[in-house]
Amino acid sequence: MNRKTAPTRAKPADPCCFVIFGATGDLTHRLLVPALYNLAVEGLLPEAFALLGVARSEMSSEAFRADLAKTLPKFATRDIDQRAVDRVLASVTYVQGDPDDNATYERLGRELERVEGERQTKGNRLFYLATPPAGFAPIGRHLGNSGLAREEDGPWRRVVIEKPFGTDLASARALNQELLSILKEDQIFRIDHYLGKETVQNILVLRFANGLFEPIWNRDHIDHVQITVAESLTVGRRGAYYDGTGALRDMVPNHLFQLLSLIAMEPPSRFAADAVRAEKAQLLDAVQLVDRDEALRNAVRGQYGEGIIDNKPVEPYRRTPNVAADSTTETYVALKLMIDNWRWANVPFYLRTGKALSAKQSEVAIKFKQAPVAMFRDTPIDRLAENFLVIGIQPNEFIGLEFNAKIPGPSIAIRGVGMTFKYQDYFDTAPSTGYETLIYDCMIGDAILYPRADGIEAGWRVVQPFLDVWREQPDKDLATYRAGSEGPKEADALLAKDGRRWRPIA
Ligand code: BG6
Repeated sequence: MNRKTAPTRAKPADPCCFVIFGATGDLTHRLLVPALYNLAVEGLLPEAFALLGVARSEMSSEAFRADLAKTLPKFATRDIDQRAVDRVLASVTYVQGDPDDNATYERLGRELERVEGERQTKGNRLFYLATPPAGFAPIGRHLGNSGLAREEDGPWRRVVIEKPFGTDLASARALNQELLSILKEDQIFRIDHYLGKETVQNILVLRFANGLFEPIWNRDHIDHVQITVAESLTVGRRGAYYDGTGALRDMVPNHLFQLLSLIAMEPPSRFAADAVRAEKAQLLDAVQLVDRDEALRNAVRGQYGEGIIDNKPVEPYRRTPNVAADSTTETYVALKLMIDNWRWANVPFYLRTGKALSAKQSEVAIKFKQAPVAMFRDTPIDRLAENFLVIGIQPNEFIGLEFNAKIPGPSIAIRGVGMTFKYQDYFDTAPSTGYETLIYDCMIGDAILYPRADGIEAGWRVVQPFLDVWREQPDKDLATYRAGSEGPKEADALLAKDGRRWRPIA
């Protein structure tokens, strides 16, 4: 076995003030502060750094700091290094205010000036919008009107927008327009936490740093592609958000389309933000837009009923707190998409995602065309195993190749075998929140992992016909599936009518 390789070292990010709107929320405690702490441990957080929390609750900076001190050990992904904890906490200030009130921005402005002087952060500011989506446009407007996000005379000003970016094509366009009337595109960082996953980033390296795959990465050799993001988690306490959203909006135009575009994009001319983002947007732009009949034919939506997961009984989705008793919101979606370009014509891409499934499993599986079995016609062999290249994203991080091998012995017999590369065998990485690289990249101004306005809109354009047809016919074809199963049988039929089948979720 090779000796394990530690992660590459990088230099600390630019001095800056990290301003979090929605600072008392779950995201701040669970992910953002633990990620900043991990950056501090790795020496990537700049020495000149300040963290400013903005939220509505009446609270002093001391109380906010004490709150973070309590939750950080709970959510930290690695052992606590008290010096790094103290360093992060010492940088914290709290600003109370309604994010839709001018006075908040006056107070924030004064506090920023004070802190910037004290901590020498050079005027660089990163505004992180960790609020519910209704806050994105108003906060953007206030940051614009107050001048706090204006870039002039050197220092950078960047705004990170959380998901969901819009709820459909029209709202995503409107949000882009609004933000772009205040900020330049290179100041806007639309976050998709799937791009923070190492295995997702590695798709680019697998495809473009190896001479092996690109020549066969096309319709001449690939039969179809399956993209699965399965969760065993139920909707749990997120009913209020989820019931108005559904699996399609929650997962597809963002996370699944990031996987799709990385898998199917053309090679970018350079490994640089604009080149990569342009190719990704182009790919999404080439996905065939479906009419209403095709939308019904090429999609399956399902909702989980009761069942058992991890030996525990699960209530049906409709009995989740804050979910309507007659809800038609889908907790599962499967789509068949076609891409209208030279590389992918006639190669179906099957995507599926759902809650309360049998296991958590995210993977991309590329099925290569079958070898002609005819050569073996005078032997007992009547079928060959399928050739899959599988990229395991989580929880198992691997790349596996499935192919046929001869069973040892005097007669010819064949069975499918596998060759697997596991990340953990080669690389020594400390567990992380998945936000570290994204935050660090934003602090150094590298937007390669952040989708651009055109990419976001191209994604919504693809899912819009499905949203429309389901809105018009809320009950039509809503399948149900048992919690703890692999999804509705209708999803199996989606592939079966093309003579294909899903890989198991195990
Ligand atoms: C979020 C969705 O964006 O992604 C959640 O809102 C989902 O519903 C989550 O559970 C999945 O992320 P991960 O990293 O656990 O696959």
